[in-house]
Amino acid sequence: MYKAVKGMNDVLPGAGEAFLESALWEHIEHVAARVLGQYGYRRAQVPIVEETQLFARGLGDATDIVSKEMYTFSDRGDRSLTLRPECTAGVVRAYVEHGYGHKAPVQRWWYMGPMFRAERPQKGRYRQFYQIGAEFFGVATPASDAETMIMLHRLCTELELGDVTIKINSLGDPESRVAYRAALLDYLRPKAKQLCESCQSRMETNPLRTLDCKRPECKSVMTLAPDVADSLSLAAITHFKEVEALLAGAGVPCVREPRLVRGLDYYTGVIFEFSTSALGAQDAILGGGRYDSLVEELGGPSTPAVGFAVGVERLALLLSARTKISSRPDLYLIPFPEVVAECMALAEDLRRTHGLRVEVDLAGGKLKTQMKRADQSGALHVMVLGADEIASNTGKIKDMRSGESLPVVLISDEIVCMITKA
Ligand code: HAM
Repeated sequence: MYKAVKGMNDVLPGAGEAFLESALWEHIEHVAARVLGQYGYRRAQVPIVEETQLFARGLGDATDIVSKEMYTFSDRGDRSLTLRPECTAGVVRAYVEHGYGHKAPVQRWWYMGPMFRAERPQKGRYRQFYQIGAEFFGVATPASDAETMIMLHRLCTELELGDVTIKINSLGDPESRVAYRAALLDYLRPKAKQLCESCQSRMETNPLRTLDCKRPECKSVMTLAPDVADSLSLAAITHFKEVEALLAGAGVPCVREPRLVRGLDYYTGVIFEFSTSALGAQDAILGGGRYDSLVEELGGPSTPAVGFAVGVERLALLLSARTKISSRPDLYLIPFPEVVAECMALAEDLRRTHGLRVEVDLAGGKLKTQMKRADQSGALHVMVLGADEIASNTGKIKDMRSGESLPVVLISDEIVCMITKA
């Protein structure tokens, strides 16, 4: 018996674990595509595998993701390749490679697909996980940050996610960041021994990451750490305040979280995370922010950008706890063997003219078995068709909730009328 690789999930119809129900994933993707499309985002699809160097360069050598979580391998030509741990680097690579920075720098792109990180699996954290993400290139204004978060707030509302906390912070421009890094290191060095082992080792290379360490010993050291706001340049402060004002004007509630940092090095200004108390330790539903230097660092012209990625498993976990979404046919048709072709033609007509979801039972067998399958399909209406029904052009539609059977003429409109009335 083969099993899926540890930390990697199968998303299936009728999955044992409610959050892995494929209908729920379809629903999430459908709502996200609609909301993102309403804001002018268009789909971008980039490969799952990229040159390792792209991630090392783009995300930062000292990040946890690059230093210990990447699935890296040599291909047959001895090139070092990596399964993407996130999608921003690949999307920026594509933006640069295809010359958008020069010919049409303002682009709003979105994507959905699997990412891979060799993390310790637990609820809400997997080794293959899916993101719905978006990147907005070519605009540096506070309005572009605000629009991104307003759109995400809309997405959460449309998905009916319930209580979501929006945390924002600013890491400032590169100068502010250098100043803050120095201030933080001055604070941390004398206290190094009080930090956990992992923070001690990453303190010099990536001191900002110590700010969001979940270990109690680090948390207590960090309560008095310098606030990044004290190192921000005037321009960075003005930008941040304007984003806050735009969000308030749009009725999007957010809280400034002075200790909010991100696990990737490319961020340059406003950063944000949406979280929920309903998910336990892995409480971040989505994260993102501004990254104004990455396009240039990866070989393109200087281009500002802002983006985010949502964790699909985390959305699915949240939603599966509150709603049951399953894909069900509108009508389940059971033909006797002699009228399979006629039944298929009727189903085809109902799909083509009325867009109905019609499943025809082609597995055959006893009527009892077929009715059981109809029930398992979740269909609300079932119709059994034999030679008599086809000859007289009439049949009986069974409403599976009431158990009642009502006669219909086998023309689409009458069937549709009964199904849609229910
Ligand atoms: P990230 O914060 O690393 O950002 O990931 C975004 C979201 O992906 C997280 O908030 C979480 O919901 C989900 N996620 C991350 N790791 C896992 C995991 N191991 N298992 C399940 N879900 C996970 C990025 O990836 C950036 N590329 C976002 C971005 C786009 N920034 C700018 N543009």
